[in-house]
Amino acid sequence: MVRVLGIETSCDETAIGIVEDGVRIRSNIVASSQDFHKPYGGVIPEIAARVHVEVIWRVLEESLAQASCQLSDIDAIAVTQGPGLPGALLIGVAFAKGLAMMLDRPLIGVDHLAAHLHAGRMTDPTLAPPFIGLVVSGGHSLLCVAHGEQRFEMLGETKDDAVGEAFDKVARLLGLGYPGGPVIDRLSDEGNRTGVVLPRHTTKEGFDFSFSGLKTAVYRIVMEQAQGLGLRAHDKDSPEPTAQSPERAFVADVAASFQEAAVDVLLTKTMRACQKTGIRQIVIGGGVAANRRLRQRLTEEGHAKGIRVVVPPLALCVDNGAMVAGLGCELLAKGRTQPLSMNIDPHLHLNA
Ligand code: KG4
Ligand code: ZN
Repeated sequence: MVRVLGIETSCDETAIGIVEDGVRIRSNIVASSQDFHKPYGGVIPEIAARVHVEVIWRVLEESLAQASCQLSDIDAIAVTQGPGLPGALLIGVAFAKGLAMMLDRPLIGVDHLAAHLHAGRMTDPTLAPPFIGLVVSGGHSLLCVAHGEQRFEMLGETKDDAVGEAFDKVARLLGLGYPGGPVIDRLSDEGNRTGVVLPRHTTKEGFDFSFSGLKTAVYRIVMEQAQGLGLRAHDKDSPEPTAQSPERAFVADVAASFQEAAVDVLLTKTMRACQKTGIRQIVIGGGVAANRRLRQRLTEEGHAKGIRVVVPPLALCVDNGAMVAGLGCELLAKGRTQPLSMNIDPHLHLNA
């Protein structure tokens, strides 16, 4: 039995998980600095890095306690090497090196995006490549083909905002706070998905995404409505709300319509990828993969078309250490360990 400890600090989550034989999750502890970023409406890299330093030991202790094991029981240390915020990545990598040196165990550098997709294989170990991968988070929106364990072919990426970023910006515009994804997800239950007409960037042939047109359309609608009500909308680039938000029913309709448009785009392009490549398996990963409407529609559409859709549980969709440990296990089996001189690589990108 091989027990790998996985460390994730690429953004605002300090996360450590312990996984046995690549699939059995013994612990998965996540501490988030989200509350510290709230006043700014987005992640402040320096704050994220500082909080990683402050909490990482506690997260390690909790993770070991949850797994009922000790540091000496760990066979290898895996850590997110990139992509991510340089200062934040540095903390995790330095910590991982310290542990690897202290315990005299192998060190494994993991690509954060590959780890998000690996969460699909941890969810359903019978899944074998090739599969279509959709990674949707605050920093990424990409479609790829996973040909092998570590072989990816990029199909498309966002040309502007990542989809999670669009959720966060629209939520800010509506005065819903940060992070916006979960709030829009919840509030959409109250709203009418067709209440507001919004554009979908799906007509073009390719697989690239663009969410800035959708975001700007929401901005215009909110401004018009606010003027009609004699209110001022939240300025789209301002971190602080500038005025009272428009009435709740309107906000819920905008949230639901925006979410539907974003999900439509992700769904259309993912299904197009299946059609063009002939591959009939999909894995989704990243924070936005926690979105209930995306999960539901992708699952339904897959069912209708006879396509296998692997949707990891929420704890494996958001940034977490278990997915890093899981992928670390596979890399370890292939001997893909790193020397202690390993550095962060903020631009790591599925080797594609
Ligand atoms: O993967 P992740 O935890 O961190 C990054 O690597 O970015 O993703 C965070 C992003 C945020 O933009 C957040 O608003 C979004 O995922 N998110 C959601 C939901 N939960 C988190 N977006 C839509 N619906 C959700 N339920
Ligand atoms: Zn992520």
